[in-house]
Amino acid sequence: MIQHVAIIMDGNGRWATQRGLSRSEGHRAGAKQISVVADAARKLGIKYLTIYAFSTENWKRPEAEVSALMGLIVEFASSELPKMMENNVRLRTIGRTADLPLASRTALLNAIEKTKDNDGFTINVALSYGGRAEIVDAVNKILRERKSKKPVTEAEFRDYLYLPDMPDPDLMIRTGGNLRISNFLLWQLSYAELYVTPVFWPDFGEDDLKAALASFEGRERRFGGLNAENSGDAARQ
Ligand code: FPP
Repeated sequence: MIQHVAIIMDGNGRWATQRGLSRSEGHRAGAKQISVVADAARKLGIKYLTIYAFSTENWKRPEAEVSALMGLIVEFASSELPKMMENNVRLRTIGRTADLPLASRTALLNAIEKTKDNDGFTINVALSYGGRAEIVDAVNKILRERKSKKPVTEAEFRDYLYLPDMPDPDLMIRTGGNLRISNFLLWQLSYAELYVTPVFWPDFGEDDLKAALASFEGRERRFGGLNAENSGDAARQ
C-alpha cells in the first residue's frame, strides 16, 4: 500500500505565460492546487504528502517572485489551518526555514503547533529546501551532537535528517515534464518510483493523481533484490 507521495510542483511559470499572466499569478494558482491534491490524496488513503514549494536555489529568482511566494506561504498556512484541523491533517516543514522572512515563519510555526497532534494525514512542505543541504546539515549535526567515534550506519544517519520519523516516499511525481530530481529528497528518494507528467502544476488534479497512482500500482518494486519468481529460483539453487 502506498503511504507517502512526494511532488515537485513544476510548471507554474509556463502555465501563467500561456495565459498572459505574471509568474506570481501562476504560483497563486499553484498554491490553490495544493489543497485540491492534498484532499484527493487523503481520500485515497495516502498518509504523507511532501511538496517542494521553495528550493535553496529559488532564492536566486527575481525579488518580486520570491516575495510573492513568501506571501503565498503566509496565506496558505493561515487559510488552510481551519480545514487542516477539521480533517485531522498535520502540517510540517523541511528545509532551512530559518532563512524565511519572519511573517512566513510565524504563520508556519502557528499552523505546525496547532496541527501537531493531528494524525490522519501529514503535509510536509519543503521550504528553502535542498537535498544536499539536508545531508550537509545532518553531517554537521552529527559533528555537533554525536559522542560516539564508531562509524555511522545508514540507519543512524537517518536520525539526523530533518524528519527522521517519516517513511521514505514510495512515489515521486514531477509535473511540468522535466526529467530531473532538482536536489529534492536526495537521501529519501533512493528507491522511490518516479512519475513525470507534462501537465503543469496548476492543472494537476485528482484524475492526474489517480493516473500516477495507477502507474505506481503496475510496477514491481524490488529494492535492489530479485523479483518473487527469481528469488524462489535463487533459494532453490
Ligand atoms: C515551480 O514552477 C514552482 C515553484 C518554484 C514554486 C512552487 C510553489 C507553489 C506551488 C505555491 C506556493 C507554495 C505554498 C506552500 C503556498 P516554476 O516557476 O519553476 O515553473 P516553470 O518551470 O514553468 O517556470
